[in-house]
Amino acid sequence: MMKFGFYNPTRLIFGAGSLAQLEKAVRPYGKKALLVIGGGSVKKSGAFDQAVASLKAAGVSVVEFSGVEPNPRLSTVVRAAELAKKEACDVVIGMGGGSVMDTSKVIAASVLYEGHPRDMLVRAGKVPRLPERALPIITVPTLAATGSEMNNGAVITIDDEGEKLKTFVKAEVLYPRVAVVDPELTVTVPKNHTAFGVCDIITHVTEGYFNGIDGTPLQDRFAEGVILTVLEWGPKAVRDGSDLEARTQVQWASIVALNGWVQVGTNYIAPVHMIEHTLSALYDIPHGAGLAVVNLAWMRFAARFRPDRFAKFAQHIFGLAATGKDDLSLAMEGIDRFEEFLRSIGCPTRLSELGIGEITKEMLFGYAEETLKVLRDEEGRLPGRPPLRKEDIVE
Ligand code: NZQ
Ligand code: ZN
Repeated sequence: MMKFGFYNPTRLIFGAGSLAQLEKAVRPYGKKALLVIGGGSVKKSGAFDQAVASLKAAGVSVVEFSGVEPNPRLSTVVRAAELAKKEACDVVIGMGGGSVMDTSKVIAASVLYEGHPRDMLVRAGKVPRLPERALPIITVPTLAATGSEMNNGAVITIDDEGEKLKTFVKAEVLYPRVAVVDPELTVTVPKNHTAFGVCDIITHVTEGYFNGIDGTPLQDRFAEGVILTVLEWGPKAVRDGSDLEARTQVQWASIVALNGWVQVGTNYIAPVHMIEHTLSALYDIPHGAGLAVVNLAWMRFAARFRPDRFAKFAQHIFGLAATGKDDLSLAMEGIDRFEEFLRSIGCPTRLSELGIGEITKEMLFGYAEETLKVLRDEEGRLPGRPPLRKEDIVE
C-alpha cells in the first residue's frame, strides 16, 4: 500500500425524504442560492418546486439556472457563472445528475477565479491553475452514478476552441459543503440511465482494482463490496424503478465508490474513464453507456498483463472455481460473465451499439489522439496498468 492522506469534508445527509432538510443544509452558507438544474427532469418530478418552496420558507432566495446538458460544456459554466456574479449569489446548489453537480462545482469556483475557468482544467502538457476559492457548494443528486455529490472532481467538455475535449478538474475547494441525498429523487430515472449508472459505479471501483498497485487487501474488499452490492440491487432498480430499497442501496454504493475511501493508498488511475470521455465528448453518448463498452474492451486487453488480478475478480465476484484452469482463462471467463451482467440490465457492450455509425481504424486513431490530449506520461502513453500507447488504445 502507498502512504496516503485522506480528507473529505462533505457533510452527508442520506436517506429517503432527506430533501426536506435542504433548507437546513443551505442556511449556514448563504442567503441567495444559484439553483442549477438540467433539462427539466426535476421540474417534472416535483423535486424542484419542493426545493424552492423550502428554501424560500427559510429566507433563502433562489436564482434558477436551467438547461445544463448531459456531458456539460464549458460555455454553459461560463454563462451560469456570469449569472451568479450578476445576481450576487452566495451559494450554489446543484440538483440533478453528475452533469449538473459537476457544472455547479465549476460555477462556484469560476465566480471567484481570476482568469478563464478553462485554465483550471487538466490538459496534457499544461499545468492546471487550480481554483483556491469557491462559493459554498451544495449537491442534491437525482441519479445514482457518478458520486460527484461527495467528491472534489468535475468533468467538463471544452467546447469553445473549435473542438470538443472532455477533461476534468479536481480541487479541494470543489468538495461540496453538504450533500443532500434522497433516494426518492431517483425513482423517476429511466431504465437505461439506471443501468448506465450501475455500470459507472462498478467502473469507478474496477479502475482502482485493476490499475492500482498490489498489496491493498482492504481496498480490494471495499471495491468487491461495492460491486457485489450493485450486482444484487442494480437489476432490481432497473426492473422496478419505484423499488425504493433498491434505489437506496444503489445510491449509497455510488457514493462509496467515488468519495475517495475505496481508492486511498492504491495509486488510483482511470484510463477507462479517460478513453470513454473522448467518446461521450464526440458523440454525446451517456457516460455509463460508453463505459460499458470501453471497460470490457480494456479488461480483455489488460488481463494479459495481470491475469492473477482478473482471475481474482472472476472468483470473488462471480464465484468461478479455479480448478484446472490457468489464470488467464479464468480471467476471460470472469469478463464474459461481467459482460452478460451488463447486457442483462440493458447496457450496450460493443462500440457498434452506441449508435455512432461506422467505425474505421482511422477514427479509432483519432479517438486515441484526443484522449492523449488530456492525459499522457512522459513517453506519450495514457497512464494505467499497463500504460497505453496510441496503438493499445486503438486495440
Ligand atoms: O437533464 P435532466 O432533465 O435532469 O435529465 C437527466 C439527463 O438527461 C436525466 N436525469 C437525471 N436525474 C433524473 C433524470 N431523469 C429522470 N429522473 C431523474 N431523477 O438523466 C440524464 C443524464 O444525466 P447526467 O447528469 O448526464 O448523468 P450522470 O449522473 O451519469 O452524469 C454524467 C456526467 O458526470 C461525469 C460524466 O463524465 C458525465 O459528464 N462524471 C463525473 C464524475 C465526478 N464528478 O466525479 C465521475 C464520473 O466518472 C463521470 O465522469
Ligand atoms: Zn464514471
